[in-house]
Amino acid sequence: MSIFITFEGGYGNKMTEGSEGRAPAILPVPRTKEEAKRFYDSISRFYDYLTAVFERKYSKMALERLVIKEGETVLEIGFGTGYCLGRIAESVGETGKAYGIDISSGMLEVTRRRLEKAKLMDRTELYCGDAASLPYDDNMFDAVLMSFTLELFDTPEIPKLLKEVKRVLRPGGRLGIAGLSREDGQSVMLRLYEWAHKKWPRYVDCRPIYVEQSLIDAGYETRSKEKLKLFGLPEEIVVAVNANVHIHHL
Ligand SMILES: C[S@@+](CC[C@H](N)C(=O)[O-])C[C@H]1O[C@@H](n2cnc3c(N)ncnc32)[C@H](O)[C@@H]1O
Repeated sequence: MSIFITFEGGYGNKMTEGSEGRAPAILPVPRTKEEAKRFYDSISRFYDYLTAVFERKYSKMALERLVIKEGETVLEIGFGTGYCLGRIAESVGETGKAYGIDISSGMLEVTRRRLEKAKLMDRTELYCGDAASLPYDDNMFDAVLMSFTLELFDTPEIPKLLKEVKRVLRPGGRLGIAGLSREDGQSVMLRLYEWAHKKWPRYVDCRPIYVEQSLIDAGYETRSKEKLKLFGLPEEIVVAVNANVHIHHL
């Protein structure tokens, strides 16, 4: 397992679309939003067990890298069964607020129960819907987390979603992402996974993407980046900031 951290990294080409012939294009996500909702609804009751074995370690890492502080307002996109959202609600404390948006009402119910049990619902707001259009005000959040969710959006949607996130993040706000990575090319596991995605796109719905490069293309500045492996599959954990400077005309 290799780990490195870079500050202010970049490649200078649009890797989300594999342009300039320097990087293979990422695969499309052909299933509809309705299919995505139905799929996640159907697995919501046991998804917690799956994620505990496979992804949780990396989700926790992305969350830790965001360094959420008491009093902050933080959004998680695609919160699943609410493990990270619960930790966000604990970190923001009574003076902060945690928000979550997920397309699956099944996932929302599992999360609601988890947070009610932990007595954290008073500082949490859950919303069921497609994150492609975020129902939040401009500059509202200090930080946003997306764990194994950005790679579920089809290729043309990724820059649009990252633009939406930029809109709701305050200038200087942090975006933390854990996701399957296409950055290191052609390992057997990566090819096997992409083959499965092409064959069963409704079930193996996510696919590896260029996480950091997508953020750079969308105008974020990288603050930290780690490259790891999950059962041989490359992962990226990236924290970037919304470097937008808002100019107010008098
Ligand atoms: C792979 S799961 C990851 C869940 C959680 N972040 C974790 O790491 O355990 C992806 C989550 O994103 C949600 N999701 C998928 N498409 C979405 C969309 N368009 N808008 C909002 N949430 C979406 C799914 O319902 C699911 O809960």
